[in-house]
Amino acid sequence: MSAVIKEAEFYVRPMQEEDLQNVLAIETRAYDFPWTKTIFQDCLRVGYCCWVLERDNQLIAYGVMSVAVGESHILNLCVHPDFQSIGIGRTLLMHLLEVAHDHNANMTFLEVRPSNFAAIKLYLDTGFDEIGTRRNYYPAKIGREDALIFARTVITGEL
Ligand SMILES: CC(C)(COP(=O)(O)OP(=O)(O)OC[C@H]1O[C@@H](n2cnc3c(N)ncnc32)[C@H](O)[C@@H]1OP(=O)(O)O)[C@@H](O)C(=O)NCCC(=O)NCCS
Repeated sequence: MSAVIKEAEFYVRPMQEEDLQNVLAIETRAYDFPWTKTIFQDCLRVGYCCWVLERDNQLIAYGVMSVAVGESHILNLCVHPDFQSIGIGRTLLMHLLEVAHDHNANMTFLEVRPSNFAAIKLYLDTGFDEIGTRRNYYPAKIGREDALIFARTVITGEL
């Protein structure tokens, strides 16, 4: 079970409505086109897997994933800019894969901007493969940007 992970420094727990102020503060710093509060509220309301990661009681990362009929879809994975590149994104991603496994998902999918080199490297490093493209998926400063679709199997022992 992956109800709650407590590692040496990181505490991973389900997101709550009360977290949204801190989540949105990170979201607006981390993305040029951030999700709104309503989107996060909808994700919580419909029962998506929404998790936060804390260090020293400070919320510094979060992830949102839907799971249905054997497939999971990572919809958001975000680390506070001041805490990036120290292993937190990888830790939370692996946690989401464990949650997907707990929900009997066989495959996990996600979309990423082709310009998001750090995220692409993280996904390739953690066993995702690029499986396709969604044209004009994301808003961009000029026009729209495609999304790369990544997928990986969720198999016990390979997390
Ligand atoms: C993408 C993101 C989640 C990665 O989280 P992170 O905590 O910074 O990443 P980690 O420290 O766990 O690094 C894991 C791997 O990601 C890659 N990575 C992370 N930062 C990187 C960077 N600046 N440049 C290149 N690769 C990077 C590396 O492969 C790294 O493994 P390594 O340390 O063994 O080289 C984080 O940068 C982020 O929140 N970005 C803004 C929001 C976002 O773009 N989310 C993804 C949407 S699809």
